[in-house]
Amino acid sequence: MELRQVDKYTVAGKEHEAYLKEISSMAENGPYRPFYHICPPCGLLNDPNGLCFYGGEYHVFYQWHPFGPSHGMKHWAHVKSGNPAGWKWCDEMLIPDQEYEKNGCYSGNAFVNESDGLCYLFYTANYKTQEGRVPKQAVAVMDPSGHIEKYKGNPVIDGAPEDMSGDIRDPFVFERGGRYYMLLGASDLSGRGSLILYSGETLTKWHYEGPIHVPLPDLGTMVECPGIIEVDGREVLLLSIIGLKPEKNRYHNQFSSLYMTGRLDLERMEFQTEHYDEIDCGFDFYAPQVFYGKGGQPMLFGWFGCGEQKLPEDAFMWRHGLTMARSLSVKNGRLYALPASGTAEGYETFCISGRSITLGNPQKPCKLELSVDQNVKVSTLTVGETDDFWQLNLNLEAGCVTWDRRGLKKKVDPAYGMIRSAEILPCESAYADIYIDNSFVEIFINGGERVFSGRIYIQGSAAL
Ligand code: FRU
Repeated sequence: MELRQVDKYTVAGKEHEAYLKEISSMAENGPYRPFYHICPPCGLLNDPNGLCFYGGEYHVFYQWHPFGPSHGMKHWAHVKSGNPAGWKWCDEMLIPDQEYEKNGCYSGNAFVNESDGLCYLFYTANYKTQEGRVPKQAVAVMDPSGHIEKYKGNPVIDGAPEDMSGDIRDPFVFERGGRYYMLLGASDLSGRGSLILYSGETLTKWHYEGPIHVPLPDLGTMVECPGIIEVDGREVLLLSIIGLKPEKNRYHNQFSSLYMTGRLDLERMEFQTEHYDEIDCGFDFYAPQVFYGKGGQPMLFGWFGCGEQKLPEDAFMWRHGLTMARSLSVKNGRLYALPASGTAEGYETFCISGRSITLGNPQKPCKLELSVDQNVKVSTLTVGETDDFWQLNLNLEAGCVTWDRRGLKKKVDPAYGMIRSAEILPCESAYADIYIDNSFVEIFINGGERVFSGRIYIQGSAAL
């Protein structure tokens, strides 16, 4: 079916209901749909937004272009659940129906305000002119009944500070010492990526503090989707960066997401960094967002996709999903991520070991537990058919893990390479927990020391 000729910046309304229903049924009846992962009913999903545990429920919003598998007018779609699984669609969402957001409601986070019991949803009001973008930041408020209303005084920040270009977006609001702070991704006047900070006494009046020094060798050309969270007594800063050049095993995707552990020093305006690395070593991951889940658990969702990918599901009028909800911890200064409790119960588990293992492509959500030890130091798992397969190599001797998609018939994003590797810390034995949810595959190494996300389309792999 052809993408109906809707203007790129069309706001979804009643008049589109029949068309959206039609393409949703194409999506639902087509192959590749995950059983557990969040994915759009139709159209394109990208960044997770507004993540929070509020009023006893997890709320997940995401960037959504409803009309087809392409980037266009971004809405904030909304799903919720009491557990980080079993998501239900929610009609209360952000629709870009105001003049100040005429080109979409772009990414941002949720701030649950203890003092008034309300949940503030910050976002970038995308506003394009002939001369380029005018950065505008806006807020909507969700009350305990779930009703969402945009703030009448929007935008709460209008325009760029003098030292930045018009490319500023993706507010992330947090509180420290009774004052509110907003991180934003940016590109400076010479086209270099920058992380900038605003502060405020209230959540609607913001004052520019300036750029934050981040001691990374390179911030590319544009920083997007910053985030900060406290994990096991450390602060963890997240940045998604456009324009990083590949460096050994890292930064091979079109865009890259990094974390830094350490501390944000607001006096010196710098992030004192203990350790940094890519957040996910796989093929299809970008723009993650962090938040505190139930009981204050630090958590993360990532966009299970990256950049301008074209994917097999495009033919069924949808594209992309989110990763599983991941629980975060910090060990030896490094960030670890594992499926959050309550997310992985439905996967049937198979324990496997040996030098060379071959399995067919699973037709149901399953978890493969692959291990190596001092007897079998190197193991290669092959999944699929003889002429359509992927491989994972767990190598204790070399201290590395390699995921290879070269054997697949349906190649995803081949321009960015079909192999990803990551080193692991020296250890006596190593293991991989591999979650396969139709075309969505996530691999957790050694209890979350390394994570790989990647889409897999085995020819003929049917809907579950
Ligand atoms: C990252 C991003 C954000 C922006 C959003 C638009 O993937 O480009 O910077 O807010 O997607 O959909």
